[in-house]
Amino acid sequence: MRIDFHSFVILALAVTMTSSATYQRSSQLAGQSFLNAFKFQAISDPTNGRVTYVNESTAKADKLVSVANNKLTLRADYTTKLSSSDPGRKSFRIMSNSQYETHVAIFDIAHMPQGCGTWPAIWEVGANWPNEGEIDIVEGVNDKTPNTCSLHTSSNCTMPSSRAMSGTVSGTNCYAYANGNAGCGVNINDNKSYGPPFNSNGGGWYAIEKRSTYIKIFFWERTSGSVPSDVKSPGSSINTSHWGTPAAYFPDTYCDLSTHFGAQNIIINLTFCGDWAGSVYSSSGCPSTCVDYVNNNPSAFKNAYFEFNSLNIYE
Ligand SMILES: *[C@@H]1O[C@H](CO)[C@@H](O)[C@H](O)[C@H]1NC(C)=O
Ligand SMILES: *[C@@H]1O[C@H](CO)[C@@H](O)[C@H](O)[C@H]1NC(C)=O
Ligand SMILES: *[C@@H]1O[C@H](CO)[C@@H](O)[C@H](O)[C@H]1NC(C)=O
Ligand SMILES: *[C@@H]1O[C@H](CO)[C@@H](O)[C@H](O)[C@H]1NC(C)=O
Ligand SMILES: *[C@@H]1O[C@H](CO)[C@@H](O)[C@H](O)[C@H]1NC(C)=O
Repeated sequence: MRIDFHSFVILALAVTMTSSATYQRSSQLAGQSFLNAFKFQAISDPTNGRVTYVNESTAKADKLVSVANNKLTLRADYTTKLSSSDPGRKSFRIMSNSQYETHVAIFDIAHMPQGCGTWPAIWEVGANWPNEGEIDIVEGVNDKTPNTCSLHTSSNCTMPSSRAMSGTVSGTNCYAYANGNAGCGVNINDNKSYGPPFNSNGGGWYAIEKRSTYIKIFFWERTSGSVPSDVKSPGSSINTSHWGTPAAYFPDTYCDLSTHFGAQNIIINLTFCGDWAGSVYSSSGCPSTCVDYVNNNPSAFKNAYFEFNSLNIYE
């Protein structure tokens, strides 16, 4: 059969449109099942934070992790005053047991950690960093709005400065060893995407869609009138083609995503101070110095917690 170029384009478009944006649910996680799909990592923070990541038994004993009403809460210690010789403030770092190639993950988040010195993150990472890539979905420091989404990769991966997204470019070179590992970031065009304004608005939904040809990150405020029905009430399948313009869009125009990204683990962690939150601490309008503040003001971290309503993963 001979297919001329015109029919070929239409055929390719039809195949892309019908198959590319639909996914089947592989994990429906909330409360205890969410916790069971992850493991605690009591490791030292490579970004030099004033933190002690605890194991699961310490997290449970110290009530840093809890499940109630089918919600999962992960928090830092907010009762202990630390001396300078103590290790850092106790907190959590959990990593998914499974790895994901092409996937969509929808995080329904009721609350995220806030407070001067906090540096929370929901992110994905492949093996052998940065060779199999890092995707930061939720990340920020010292309550500074909005949220920044970014990629960190091996060399030869850059992003166009102009692209189809609602966010604003903060960097275009994704190479981890350029610009002090700033990555190719995108600031979400909505201050309710992060920190205290996110929390006082009841949180919202973050979703990542990762494919070999693009990575998209979406954000909807809790009170938004335009949350897609398959995000608001996740079912057994989804179709991302009606989700609209993403907050952050990372296309493969100048970056072969299939060679820069391997299978990804999801990580959720909260550190304090360190390479990012510490270095911009005083310019964030926070009091004292970061380490002193974190050591001496435990009650300031009462709101340094994530509360998740659910996590649905589609492949
Ligand atoms: C915790 O999160 C931050 C922010 O993404 C990250 O840079 C840091 O490496 C993480 N620490 C660990 C031990 O995972
Ligand atoms: C968890 O960490 C605590 C404190 O470091 C340690 O005493 C305990 O043995 C650890 N438990 C497990 C199961 O590793
Ligand atoms: C968002 O927050 C930043 C500071 O974090 C501020 O400079 C900016 O004006 C805010 N934008 C809006 C639209 O309020
Ligand atoms: C996915 O949604 C798009 C846009 O609404 C629609 O054109 C397409 O038919 C849908 N695909 C499936 C398999 O439902
Ligand atoms: C850089 O990536 C482009 C694809 O984006 C590829 O064509 C080119 O060969 C790569 N260059 C090197 C030196 O690997």
